[in-house]
Amino acid sequence: MAKITVSLIKADVGGYPGHASVHESLIKKAEEILSQGVETEVIRDFRVLATGDDLELIMNHNRGTDNEEVHSLAWKCFEAVTDVAKELKLYGAGQDLLKDAFSGNIKGMGPGVAELEFTERESDPLVAFMMDKTEPGAFNLPIYRIFADPFNTAGLVIDPSIHDGFVFEVWDIYEHKRVFMNTPEETYDLLALIGAKSRYVIKRIFPKKGSKLPADEAVAVVSTEKLYQIAGEYVGKDDPVALVRAQSGLPALGEVLEPFAFPHLVSGWMRGSHNGPLMPVSFKDARCTRFDGPPRVAAAGFQISEKLVGPSDLFDDPIWDYTRRKAQKVTEYMRRHGPFEPHRLPMEDMEYTTLPKVLKELSDRFEKVE
Ligand code: 13P
Ligand code: 13P
Ligand code: MG
Ligand code: MG
Repeated sequence: MAKITVSLIKADVGGYPGHASVHESLIKKAEEILSQGVETEVIRDFRVLATGDDLELIMNHNRGTDNEEVHSLAWKCFEAVTDVAKELKLYGAGQDLLKDAFSGNIKGMGPGVAELEFTERESDPLVAFMMDKTEPGAFNLPIYRIFADPFNTAGLVIDPSIHDGFVFEVWDIYEHKRVFMNTPEETYDLLALIGAKSRYVIKRIFPKKGSKLPADEAVAVVSTEKLYQIAGEYVGKDDPVALVRAQSGLPALGEVLEPFAFPHLVSGWMRGSHNGPLMPVSFKDARCTRFDGPPRVAAAGFQISEKLVGPSDLFDDPIWDYTRRKAQKVTEYMRRHGPFEPHRLPMEDMEYTTLPKVLKELSDRFEKVE
């Protein structure tokens, strides 16, 4: 069977208004540029979506991951869209485009990237998760639960094709190192790392050897670009995206969505400096208004073949109202803390925000205490 690649490449190229959402004209421009990519056969199909102020390019092709033509198309698209954002004087136009010239791979240039290349099955369901006002570590808890928690994923207990578990690729994003860990055998060690979600982030999930699916083809991937490490100072949060495949030797679609029924606390809200609940929302509600948030996640479901069949707006369902209600209550509770931790992030995570500039002004005022 032929291999398929799905590339989800995203960037904040201007907010409307402030950091709330993406203006319709940016989506139109992106569609125009990606249509040219279909005409020139760089990609086969695409969809342009938006979550908060992040523009999401979902592309289907057969060129593999890290492909220069595909990345160059995405970069060209973001540049053209930035021109529109500048004309409209949208907020932070070109915010995530941190480099001037494209040099072969879009990674390290500002945009977030999640790509999967896989051997086509008879039928391939896939979910694109798109978050705003948070960071890559926000995916640790849900991805762990999808692929390793039997209280979330019934198949880990009752389906022989996933009963053996999965392999987690975890990155230390400060040291630029990675480790592969097997579940369920190394569950406790894995949790010891990924509970520290601002440093250790799940990058990919692989099937185990002997599984029904090729052990060298990732079945889930998370974007892990850290904008501040590229830019050297706070320029907006690295709002992450992920691709997760489902069914036939993998967790079912409903098992992939299930962890989002708990609106867990994530960092990145208001000025990239606050903790808040992750609220699952429909595409229509993927606009960040209260205190620039709260952090949100949207889920686009596809059947993947030559074409992208979809998206299905998976959180546009009243069953998620209960979770949203809980997120609203937690929002109210967290907001009452104002500038106090743990609503505001701890000092070590504030290092790359504007807070150190304020503290520097005060440093002369301190006198010694005997
Ligand atoms: P500015 O208003 O100076 O852009 O800072 C606030 C903010 O929104 C941070 O991204
Ligand atoms: P974005 O990273 O989504 O641009 O948000 C910036 C911010 O700090 C909003 O308060
Ligand atoms: Mg923004
Ligand atoms: Mg954003």
